[in-house]
Amino acid sequence: MNKLNLIVNGERYELELDTRTTLLDTLREHLHLTGTKKGCDHGQCGACTVMVNGERINSCLSFAVMHDEDEVTTIEGLGEPDNMHPMQEAFVKHDGYQCGYCTPGQICSAVAVLDEIRKGVPSHVTEDINAVPDFTNMEMRERMSGNICRCGAYSNIAEAMADVAGLEMAGNAA
Ligand code: FES
Ligand code: FES
Repeated sequence: MNKLNLIVNGERYELELDTRTTLLDTLREHLHLTGTKKGCDHGQCGACTVMVNGERINSCLSFAVMHDEDEVTTIEGLGEPDNMHPMQEAFVKHDGYQCGYCTPGQICSAVAVLDEIRKGVPSHVTEDINAVPDFTNMEMRERMSGNICRCGAYSNIAEAMADVAGLEMAGNAA
């Protein structure tokens, strides 16, 4: 067993966990934050995507003990039904889901993707890796390729992201 501290959605948790406990199982089984989903448990679907210190990771591929004192943001921390994050609002507006199982991971990933583009992190489709990438449909689709949706809501997810990116470019989004 290992002791560790996690800051999850702004709240500090002191935990004692088996070394082999993944961050995903810690969130779901120990902290009861079940918004983060377990799809494959093998790093292949993106359903477990959360943000750690502002960057997205697959929480099923990461042991909790690797994150002592890290700040984790899950879908619950992004917004609430009566106070949604702009990306959550955009997913509702553009019908970016059907069954919803992949949706928490898609939304966490989408928020982090726009941040990556804003910070100038290149992707495989960025033509000039020295320039800040544009908020293009191709950039967003490439960066979202690790988030699988069995319902095939991809085009609506891309529309939701474009909507938020457009708002951000106009300086209107939070
Ligand atoms: S559950 Fe982590 S990538 Fe599928
Ligand atoms: S909405 Fe069903 S898996 Fe994506």
